[in-house]
Amino acid sequence: MSDRPVVVVTRRLPDAVHDALRGAFDARLNPEDRPLGPEGLRGALATADALLTTVTDSVTADLLAAEPRRTRLVANFGVGFNNIDVEAAKARGVAVSNTPDVLTDATADLAMTLLLMVARRTGEGERHVRNGQWTGWRPTHMLGAHVTGKTLGLVGMGRIARAVAQRAHHGFQMKVIYHDPYPPPPDVARALGAEPRDTLEQVLRQADFVSLHCPASPETHHLMNRERLALMRPEAFLVNTARGDVVDEAALVEALVAGRIAGAGLDVFEREPQVTQALTTMDNVVLLPHLGSATTETRVAMGMRAFENLQRFFAGQPLRDRVV
Ligand code: DGY
Repeated sequence: MSDRPVVVVTRRLPDAVHDALRGAFDARLNPEDRPLGPEGLRGALATADALLTTVTDSVTADLLAAEPRRTRLVANFGVGFNNIDVEAAKARGVAVSNTPDVLTDATADLAMTLLLMVARRTGEGERHVRNGQWTGWRPTHMLGAHVTGKTLGLVGMGRIARAVAQRAHHGFQMKVIYHDPYPPPPDVARALGAEPRDTLEQVLRQADFVSLHCPASPETHHLMNRERLALMRPEAFLVNTARGDVVDEAALVEALVAGRIAGAGLDVFEREPQVTQALTTMDNVVLLPHLGSATTETRVAMGMRAFENLQRFFAGQPLRDRVV
């Protein structure tokens, strides 16, 4: 029996993170990477001092209410924490931490990837070549939308949105507009060439590309509903690297089918890993499997950040990234 804190790690993490966790804790790793599911999580909450969870683990109010519970910290591997009922955790004295900052660049890079892919039809083009359909260069073949100099509308202006603005404005000379109920200081936005708009609706009406960067919450659930999608221009594209349920996926399909918007680049979905079948048949849609933070460097950094939160917690120090 070890007297080190027991930490259940719900998914397989990079080796360097496993090594760190093994060195400091009685770490119960998951090298087979099998999702624990509700029963596994229930058992983990009863037997571990802390859980290191990911977006695929639903830590619900019911699970947190189950007795006996030993867990006092849920250290989430991710900046988003909508997989955890944080109010229930707070009410039961369970601390929650996340991993901000370290995934900002990777996620912003992926938002730009989606924007460029959907505008320049690169997914479609790649399928065309791989399927042996390409008959040769021609002046009117697969013309896409120009990106440089266009208007990018950011929904939310937190860390990741700012990193996207930096890339879009300074790299692609895009005009950047944004709406955020909690806007950044004016000089921060100015340095990114980003102009505020008073309402989300103004952003939607004016942008050639709309990129979503708000957290998932009851307030942002289906923020992009039928009415708001209808405000976008018919030649505009939607990019989502935030959370799937910020978009009403059925309404998005309707808007795409009706040609009310030009296309969409999606890294996240309402019911992951399920993707609305109609989307998979559309050439003006780029679909990625939640890859926002998926670089080796970033996933190691996320793991080490969760590790730091665990270490601080068990050393009796304030969490670096306390959510509640
Ligand atoms: C995040 O950090 O929120 C990513 O989406 C992975 O969960």
